[in-house]
Amino acid sequence: MTDKDAKTTRDELERISRQRDGLQAELLERLAQIESLNQELAETNRGVVALYAELDDRAADLREVSELKSRFLSYMSHEFRTPLGAIRSITRILLDQMDGPLTKEQEKQVRFVQSSAEELTEMVNDLLDLAKIEAGRISISPAWFEMVDLFAALRGMFRPLLTNEAVALVFEEPTDVPRVFTDDKKLSQILRNFISNALKFTHKGEVRVSSQYRTPGWVTFSVADTGIGIAREHQGALFQDFVQVDAPIQRRFRGTGLGLALSKRLAELLGGSVAVQSELGQGSTFFAIIPIHFSPNKLPSPEEVQMATKSED
Ligand SMILES: Nc1ncnc2c1ncn2[C@@H]1O[C@H](COP(=O)(O)OP(=O)(O)O)[C@@H](O)[C@H]1O
Ligand SMILES: [Mg+2]
Repeated sequence: MTDKDAKTTRDELERISRQRDGLQAELLERLAQIESLNQELAETNRGVVALYAELDDRAADLREVSELKSRFLSYMSHEFRTPLGAIRSITRILLDQMDGPLTKEQEKQVRFVQSSAEELTEMVNDLLDLAKIEAGRISISPAWFEMVDLFAALRGMFRPLLTNEAVALVFEEPTDVPRVFTDDKKLSQILRNFISNALKFTHKGEVRVSSQYRTPGWVTFSVADTGIGIAREHQGALFQDFVQVDAPIQRRFRGTGLGLALSKRLAELLGGSVAVQSELGQGSTFFAIIPIHFSPNKLPSPEEVQMATKSED
């Protein structure tokens, strides 16, 4: 090896060594960075864990509040029933005129007391039912029954309430609907809510109740009216608690705004769902889509709901 060669090799070695030192320094720097990143991550993790704990606390609080609300509602509704029952029976006695005749004016006033007490009773019953559902204290008692019997019972129930001669309440004979295995009392309650709304908001024409077997496994009930209808922007929120459409005509008939919310919960308890189609000024159709055979934990898919509620034409 010449002196020149040796120098080149030395130079090369020095260069490599410098490069190595540089790389080592860089490596150390990177390690330090990783270490600090790790620390940051650990801190973030602690933060996330703390947040989770807080969320858990909040969720527990919310559950407690909701439980309290349900207990309060059911307690209050229970307490309301007794005095309301007293008011209703006393107004009945007064209207029967057993303790002497009433003047026309007195009779009008007592009738007003009576209808207010009826309304309040309905509201209290709805509240109690909602509270029971929320507390999971409503059970489903399914049984086989014929649609014809259900419709006949509903017809009988509404007959005394049909005071407006310009509106007909029509029950279509269920022809192609098979026997159904579900809780007929809950189903009847849903339909009663739909029908009483339809009668309340229809001044002329008809309220038509029918059942169709459009989707295998599901029966669709519809209550169609020729009433005032509901604007599209109000349709979305209809089934929420205490929602009433804030239009001038609707405002004249103040109810509780609980009937549809209750109907929705009841339909869901039966494994089904509810839906509405309406045209302002033309009328509304409310649907309940219920499984033919009740089995817990079965919900219709969006496609099944769509199929079950689409109009036949
Ligand atoms: N068939 C209908 N036609 C027009 N509006 C309706 C009909 N059914 C329900 N609505 C509207 O939906 C609102 C909520 O109904 P609901 O929950 O039964 O409460 P409520 O009958 O106590 O007012 C009603 O106040 C009314 O504005
Ligand atoms: Mg109602």
